[in-house]
Amino acid sequence: MSLSLPFVTQVGFDSGTLRPPHKRIQRRLSDMALMYADRAAAQRILAQEGDRLIYEYQFVELPSAEGQLPHGSTRILPGDIGGEYHMTKGHYHARREQGEVYFGLSGRGMLLLQTEQGATSALEMSAGSAAYVPPYWAHRTVNIGAEDFVFFSVWEARAGHDYASIERDGFRQLVVMRDGAPALAQNPKYA
Ligand code: F6R
Ligand code: ZN
Repeated sequence: MSLSLPFVTQVGFDSGTLRPPHKRIQRRLSDMALMYADRAAAQRILAQEGDRLIYEYQFVELPSAEGQLPHGSTRILPGDIGGEYHMTKGHYHARREQGEVYFGLSGRGMLLLQTEQGATSALEMSAGSAAYVPPYWAHRTVNIGAEDFVFFSVWEARAGHDYASIERDGFRQLVVMRDGAPALAQNPKYA
């Protein structure tokens, strides 16, 4: 056993910024253009507007050992791609038995979840929401507001991230704009 030392990180509720800075990953439209239902809209935006930033996440990297708890923030910018709100890629944990906690810091979001057996869930989140992602549930967050949606997450170091099936099929539920408001729609890929 190697003993870790305690430490504190300051988190910006509106920006998600970690102080001191830690690992930071940005996802742009080109990184996930095939994940939006309207691929033509994604290509149009890439051609006309350029490669917009969809979300970024920052987290404290820790050794991949039992009991270590990496943690960090995600900021999803407001906007949509062909009427589908900006979202994270979403993933299963490679070790399916590992859960996670999300805590809303600012803005308005939706947490989409699903299992490999076909169960689905969609939970609204805002500042102060503590959402529980149980073991075996894939999870994706969506910004359904006009401001950045920012949340904090804590997961187990050995959970691992399995993006493959989501990259191929997406989530069963899409979060789309209907009459200017968010609504759930069925992903035609699962019809
Ligand atoms: C970690 C976790 C979050 C996400 C982050 C970005 O297990 O669920 O910290 O990693 O919100 O989303 P993805 O990883 O789906 O690109
Ligand atoms: Zn996760």
